[in-house]
Amino acid sequence: MTGTSAGVSVGGKTVDLPTRSGTIGPDVIDIGTLYKNTGTFTYDPGFTSTASCESKITYIDGDEGVLLHRGYPIEQLAEHGDFLEACYLLLYGELPTKTQKDDFDYRVTHHTMVHEQMSRFFTGFRRDAHPMAVMCGCVGALSAFYHDSTDITDPHQRMVASLRMIAKMPTIAAMAYKYHIGQPFVYPKNDLDYASNFLRMCFAVPCEEYVANPVLARAMDRIFILHADHEQNASTSTVRLAGSSGANPFACIAAGIACLWGPAHGGANEAALNMLAEIGSVDRIPEYVARAKDKNDPFRLMGFGHRVYKNYDPRARIMQRTTHEVLNELGIKDDPMLEVAMELERIALTDEYFIEKKLYPNIDFYSGITLKALGFPTTMFTVLFALARTVGWIAQWNEMIEDPEQRIGRPRQLYIGEPKRDYVPVSKR
Ligand code: SDX
Repeated sequence: MTGTSAGVSVGGKTVDLPTRSGTIGPDVIDIGTLYKNTGTFTYDPGFTSTASCESKITYIDGDEGVLLHRGYPIEQLAEHGDFLEACYLLLYGELPTKTQKDDFDYRVTHHTMVHEQMSRFFTGFRRDAHPMAVMCGCVGALSAFYHDSTDITDPHQRMVASLRMIAKMPTIAAMAYKYHIGQPFVYPKNDLDYASNFLRMCFAVPCEEYVANPVLARAMDRIFILHADHEQNASTSTVRLAGSSGANPFACIAAGIACLWGPAHGGANEAALNMLAEIGSVDRIPEYVARAKDKNDPFRLMGFGHRVYKNYDPRARIMQRTTHEVLNELGIKDDPMLEVAMELERIALTDEYFIEKKLYPNIDFYSGITLKALGFPTTMFTVLFALARTVGWIAQWNEMIEDPEQRIGRPRQLYIGEPKRDYVPVSKR
């Protein structure tokens, strides 16, 4: 979609750069010819003002706290649909009919097993290895098993790889958890829904039957929906950049997992719960809020702030409601960490610093309390985020490959190092 043009004067030259308008949201200036016509780059290290692509998948209005997937508000998808319906929507662009949904569910369900040799990878890790390290290794290794779906130029192979990723991530994540706690792997069961199957693979033991609590399974499924996709966040941009070189989808998803691990991104749910545990009680909150405001203290309130949301993260509201549902279902009345979280939120939302910097709770603020109540250790929190985000990564990866404008991603730089100089022999240094 094109618009007017923007006149840019730089280096004594004035050029007209075309602008483009999307369906909704800010216009963009197409700077693709800027360097050729002016010899000047743009500079935007955190990409705060830079769009990397056109996309139809997800839209965020950070000021209004709006999140749309293919135009549908996250609140409606989380309320009325299930995770595999959201996966279908993200992948194909439309909500499925009953027949399409049944067929999609069947295809995903019947790809949940992994090659038996995969189980050999785990024994190479120490038991106390962080499950995200295991996920990076095992997901990247999937490309060693599925040579029949790594030709990225073949739409059929891309869709097979996409389904395989969505189907197998819960199995691999559950295997990482079981290995971590020293329990035997549990195979998926085809008569269970996606979330119940995952909970059973995590929490069933050979000694007794396990049936997932339907309220908890619904909460798990909703948590997957909330984490499914989020525009061009750091890990999705990593997947797109890796994919732009023609790397196979399994390797690209492994790169996304590695990026998500960071505490500023997907690792924030683990860091937020560790922070709540460290604060420990309501009376210690002011000390930590003061540290978060102290420029000389690197401490930040984990689970607060967002590059795009300058309002309440809509996912955080749904997550907070889910937290209360899960705690009520489990009969957990006065969870000390929930008490600290709610008081910390109340204080932060009334504190001038947080108001001025528009720092609101994000999805990671409440997810940790919920996941801990569901029985997961903090080290598994980002694994669950990666499990859910796989559909977003793979949908964005497909869109990138199908985009005629996409080329290998290769940013330029502002060089501030030494000018050219000659080698000095060591005897003269
Ligand atoms: C996710 O991009 C996505 O969409 C990500 C995600 C997704 O679904 O993919 O939404 C998932 O990653 C959510 C974010 C999880 N991360 C955290 O909760 C970690 C804590 N948050 C911060 O590290 C930070 O808010 C970021 C990384 C989320 C955003 O960083 P930005 O956009 O680069 O903002 P910034 O670091 O420039 O902060 C702006 C100001 C700074 O103060 P000044 O330098 O202007 O004086 O706000 C301050 C920061 O110091 N600030 C905080 C803060 N976050 C920002 N101060 C205290 N506590 C915080 N949490």
